[in-house]
Amino acid sequence: MLGATGSIGRQALEIIAAHPQLEVCALSSGVQPLDALAARHGVGHTQVGGDPTGLLEASCPDLVLNAVVGFAGLPATLWALERGVDLALANKESLVAAGELALAAWKRGGGRLLPVDSEHSAVFQCLEGRNLDSVDSLVLTGSGGPFRGFTRADLDGVTTEQALAHPTWRMGPKITIDSATLANKGLELIEAHFLFDIPYGRIEVVLQPTSIVHALVRLRDGGALAHLGYPDMRVPIAFALTYPERAETPVPALDFASGLVLEFQSPDVETFPLLSLAREAGEGGGTLPCAFNAANEVAVRRFLEGALPFLGIADVVGAVLAEADGAPARDLEDLVAADTEARRLANHRAVGHEVPIG
Ligand SMILES: NC(=O)c1ccc[n+]([C@@H]2O[C@H](COP(=O)([O-])OP(=O)(O)OC[C@H]3O[C@@H](n4cnc5c(N)ncnc54)[C@H](OP(=O)(O)O)[C@@H]3O)[C@@H](O)[C@H]2O)c1
Repeated sequence: MLGATGSIGRQALEIIAAHPQLEVCALSSGVQPLDALAARHGVGHTQVGGDPTGLLEASCPDLVLNAVVGFAGLPATLWALERGVDLALANKESLVAAGELALAAWKRGGGRLLPVDSEHSAVFQCLEGRNLDSVDSLVLTGSGGPFRGFTRADLDGVTTEQALAHPTWRMGPKITIDSATLANKGLELIEAHFLFDIPYGRIEVVLQPTSIVHALVRLRDGGALAHLGYPDMRVPIAFALTYPERAETPVPALDFASGLVLEFQSPDVETFPLLSLAREAGEGGGTLPCAFNAANEVAVRRFLEGALPFLGIADVVGAVLAEADGAPARDLEDLVAADTEARRLANHRAVGHEVPIG
């Protein structure tokens, strides 16, 4: 379990503790100590920071849960895919950045790639056992975040506290900011393209503010399948960890008598341009998704540090994409070079950006 101290990691440990058929053989984190967690869960292999591949080799897992945040999750994703070790993937950034390279490693390795992102877990379940020829399109849903309905003028000067107050999900800070900017739906769009081999033109994003409908698959006969449930990551985490058995979780069944609201809206891509920028990066291909991800990581960090205004996040990413060459990544070195260059450009763009007062 990589990223054991995070939001996904802690919920996964809760699921594992409730299912004796699951056993954790290794834990990693970025900076937080792991001694207490390792003692509580009887884990012998731990690692704080650094390249996790040694930990993975030493612990011989049947399945890797990659719940690291950001591009730092890439080595673990490639390690598992290349070796055919089943991968439960929460770390969407690695699939977005590595794209074709990750798919080639997955094909060579032949293991399972089980999405943990709730939307992709939902699509995976709606597609199970279905021929892709019968599928018309995918629909990814999003709550719209805390600023749904805001104008650009309203967004001018919003604080980190406001951006971190997600209306429906409790998550780590990076994905929570990505949800507020809609960059998260952009990352998910690219993730869905690679996971399900569907062209971008056949993946739609819609807002569903109560986060009950996690995704839909439209079929060519005019029907559509949806996955519904209360917004609780323990469901997709448990699904991935116990696939194909589908274990019980503490999450209650939907109560249709309680006044569930299932409204849908189109996202406002003028006010939240990161969704369109992600789509352009995805369609552009090569290392553009990697550059999108790297620039976004830098800009979000700057925003969280109070060094960049909320609207500056999209400005920085847009400026980096305008300069990125998007050359294909032949290998990991090309990818790391594209990531490094995009980070350099993003840091340069972010410096001197006007910071709101207060
Ligand atoms: N949270 C959700 O509900 C949710 C839903 C869907 C998808 N996801 C995805 O799941 C991933 C994790 O999200 P999260 O919300 O759980 O994030 P989080 O709460 O911030 O946790 C991130 C985890 O990654 C570890 N980490 C950070 N940098 C690292 C590095 N350089 N090397 C190794 N480990 C590192 C952190 O360790 P430290 O604690 O030591 O810093 C922590 O354990 C993200 O890709 C996110 O997009 C999350």
